[in-house]
Formats: sequence, structure tokens, C-alpha cells
Amino acid sequence: MTDSPRNIVRHEGTISRRDREQLLGQRGCVVWFTGLSGSGKSTVSRAVEERLHQAGRLVYVLDGDNVRHGLCSDLGFSDRDRSENIRRIGHVAALLADAGAIVLTAFISPFRRDRAQARDVVGGDDFLEVFVDAPLSTCEARDPKGLYKKARAGEIPEFTGISSPYEPPEHPALTVQTGDLSLPECAAAVASMLEQKGYLSPPDRQS
Ligand code: ADX
Repeated sequence: MTDSPRNIVRHEGTISRRDREQLLGQRGCVVWFTGLSGSGKSTVSRAVEERLHQAGRLVYVLDGDNVRHGLCSDLGFSDRDRSENIRRIGHVAALLADAGAIVLTAFISPFRRDRAQARDVVGGDDFLEVFVDAPLSTCEARDPKGLYKKARAGEIPEFTGISSPYEPPEHPALTVQTGDLSLPECAAAVASMLEQKGYLSPPDRQS
């Protein structure tokens, strides 16, 4: 079909996503970690990455602080820029999942509407929202980058949880409470969700 105003036509090869998944012995998906700054999204996603990589899986982490150095270096933290950040990440994650990878995204992604759009881009079943749940007081006490202190001092405008909202997921596939569980326990919970949902097996072994 032609997207006539721009003369752009989609092109498909003969190798399908299923072929790639068969090759890799896994199914592509996006594990979408969301939570406050300092809640543990990057830490948990890196622990899951290590665990799955060591088990022979193709896994890839997209992380807010890294992506904002490159692909999203033109964006700040207004509501509009955050939406655009999440829109771009949704599309990149969808492409990587289509390549057959297990994608772990670690972005605050504070707005439900933006996460819902990312879910639509990825395809509902393969988008697994994980709420990295730690109370604001805990994140603020951790303050690994010293940003809460700066935000409280008024040095960082629109800081999530302080002067910009965070909308927790209403129906996450999984919640990990990083204040109560150890890091290996959090990583194991995510890995076991992937196992149960069949993402760690080749596609034709699915029921
Ligand atoms: S998101 O809201 O657009 O999803 P993203 O996850 O990419 O945010 O980036 C969040 C990281 O940027 C935080 O972990 C923190 O290190 C840094 N940061 C800088 N300014 C802000 C701010 N105003 N609000 C939240 N995080 C900020």
C-alpha cells in the first residue's frame, strides 16, 4: 500500500520475525520498566540482562540516561519532550523485538498515555509492563545521582515526583518492590515472568 502524500511504500523481505525467533530459540518482546528516578529501573534491567545473557539469550537494554545522550539528545523534560522520548523509544524497542531480541527498557515514562502508545506500537501481547515500585521517600533517600537534592533546592525544574507527575501503571504485568526484595529476587521475578509467558522458548514450542 502506498502512503501517497509522501510516496513511501512498505517493503517486506522473505525472512520473517518467526524465522529469526526460531534461529534465536526465543521470542522477541519488550519488558517496559517504569518507575521514579532512583526506583531501580536501570539496576534491575541490568541484572535481568546479565541473567538472560548468561543463559544464552539475546537481550538488549535501552536506558533513559544513555539514550538521552544520542537518539534523544535534543529532548528535555517538559511533558511534550518526555512524550516524544517515549514515542521514539517505543519504535526502537518494537524494531528490536521484531529482530527477535528480548528488549528491556528503563525509562521513567511517567505518563500512562505514552506507555499505552508504546504498547500499541510494540503490539499488546509482547509489551510487558513492569512497575519498579519504590516510595518517593525511598528514592529520595537513595538519591544515587544527587538529583532529588537539587530538585528540592529548585535547581532542577519539572523533576518527576517533586515538580512533575508520575502516573503508576494500573495493570502492570509485574510489580517489583525494590525496597523489599533483593536485586537477585527482582531479576528472578522478571525472568520467571518471561519463562511463564513462553518468551524463552522458540516460537513453535508455544501452545
Ligand atoms: S522520561 O520521563 O522521559 O521517561 P528518562 O527515563 O528518559 O525520563 O530520563 C530520566 C533520567 O534523567 C533520570 O534518571 C535522571 O537521571 C535524569 N533527569 C534529569 N532531569 C530530570 C527531570 N527533570 N525529571 C526526571 N529525571 C531527570
